Amino acid sequence: MLSLLEVGGSLLERVAAGGPLSLVLAASAFVLSLGYLLQLGSRHRQQQPAGPGDGKYPPYISSNIPFLGHAVTFGKSPIEFLENAYEKYGPVFSFTMVGKTFTYLLGSDAAALLFNSKNEDLNAEDVYSRLTTPVFGKGVAYDVPNPVFLEQKKMLKTGLNIAQFKQHVPVIEQETKEYFNSWGKSGERNLFEALSELVILTASHCLHGQEIRSLLNEKVAQLYADLDGGFTHAAWLLPGWLPLPSFRRRDRAHKEIKNIFYKVIQKRRKSGERVDDMLQKLLDVTYKDGHPLTDDEIAGMLIGLLLAGQHTSSTTSAWLGFFLARDKSIQEQCYVEQKAVCGEDLPPLNYDQLKDLNLLERCLKETLRLRPPIMTMMRMARSPQTVAGYTIPPGHQVCVSPTVNHRLKDSWIEGLDFKPDRYLLDNPAAGEKFAYVPFGAGRHRCIGENFAYVQIKTIWSTLLRLYEFDLVDGYFPTINYKTMIHTPSNPIIRYKKRSH
Ligand code: HEM
Repeated sequence: MLSLLEVGGSLLERVAAGGPLSLVLAASAFVLSLGYLLQLGSRHRQQQPAGPGDGKYPPYISSNIPFLGHAVTFGKSPIEFLENAYEKYGPVFSFTMVGKTFTYLLGSDAAALLFNSKNEDLNAEDVYSRLTTPVFGKGVAYDVPNPVFLEQKKMLKTGLNIAQFKQHVPVIEQETKEYFNSWGKSGERNLFEALSELVILTASHCLHGQEIRSLLNEKVAQLYADLDGGFTHAAWLLPGWLPLPSFRRRDRAHKEIKNIFYKVIQKRRKSGERVDDMLQKLLDVTYKDGHPLTDDEIAGMLIGLLLAGQHTSSTTSAWLGFFLARDKSIQEQCYVEQKAVCGEDLPPLNYDQLKDLNLLERCLKETLRLRPPIMTMMRMARSPQTVAGYTIPPGHQVCVSPTVNHRLKDSWIEGLDFKPDRYLLDNPAAGEKFAYVPFGAGRHRCIGENFAYVQIKTIWSTLLRLYEFDLVDGYFPTINYKTMIHTPSNPIIRYKKRSH
């Protein structure tokens, strides 16, 4: 039985690696009968009024394809799908994919429901936990009741302060210089790959500390890659008990990384040495009721901290590079800004100067508008929710898409153009609370925003000082929708060392 499942599982996984299209086809074959029943159930629910006095359900985009519903069209081009639906149905609508009903809340007003809701009503654990718990471990993040996670977020925040950022800037500058040493004077290279590798090094150094960073060799990097292999459409869509090779690699990597962290934690506890870093903060802190974090919770939080910022920051950094390579005049102004703010001879960077690099900051802000790494935030409706005159029934996955909100014609002028100076002007979106939400809002809001700005601005200050960047034969990467975070496709960039 097990081996049959394994063969089925690995076949399924191989198909899944082919992208959302083949993945959903494979997934559907696997659980078709169950899903079809679910679909019938959900259709049935769609047609039922929720009860006397309740509003009507949101417009439902029907599909003739049983179970899969709109998965294929959505998988190919989710933003286009949502924008078309917005035009046709307005800010709130529902549709089915792989047996699940999704209700999107587009635009600032509708999005307010998700951001202002209580976690008991629109629940995050129900949708995220199956993805995150095997990676971060038990006892942290979405594996615990939200009030406990909120306490954990607060603990992590104590280690993300200005005094720490001041120490981080020279560390990130040094890591960046060392990493890019191998790029030589000029060439064409995969920018996204390079920045992904660099961001693990910088984030580990800053957020885990020198001790854990020093253990980061190729073997540990592979463990992170395997762990990270847990964040896939497959892990989200398929049952966790399936014996897929990637699930097994993820689980093995989780154990091995935790063992590495346990040793460092125990060594620090025993030595009594006090270092001013995140690990120390987590060793010292207690929950409100006075009990400290266990080694396992600390290890899980360290993994979460690194991975929450890994794809988000590396993808954003890569897109920023391509926007600057496409707009050479802005790139040049950013280089001039380095000299104007830091000095003609470009001395080592420091935190105070970094704060004054306003154009670079606006470029990053604009990159996060056009390419927010988290394209959809999701919650499970546990109770009926009212929005825009509609009632969303329990069981719907309620979603907000920063990507769509960030370019809605009603909110943004020339919304598809990269215009960092738009933030200097009066912007119609400025009065809308949730028109710009790359870091989310409300109780689930990101705690890593300031660190991400420090990290990305330091990396790009260093790179702008080292190189001039160009697109390769005018190619600006298209968006790769196969990955959960929308990465640049074929992200090769041309670079040439600056002579200063
Ligand atoms: C460019 C970089 C980043 C972006 C765009 C980003 C985006 C987001 C978004 C959109 C959310 C809200 C998710 C939701 O509501 O469902 C979030 C939550 C969060 N992020 Fe980030 N993030 C980034 C970097 C980081 C970094 C560097 C860290 C850690 C140092 C981090 C830690 C977290 C944590 C702990 C949460 C809380 C999740 C919750 O309460 O449910 N993020 N992030």
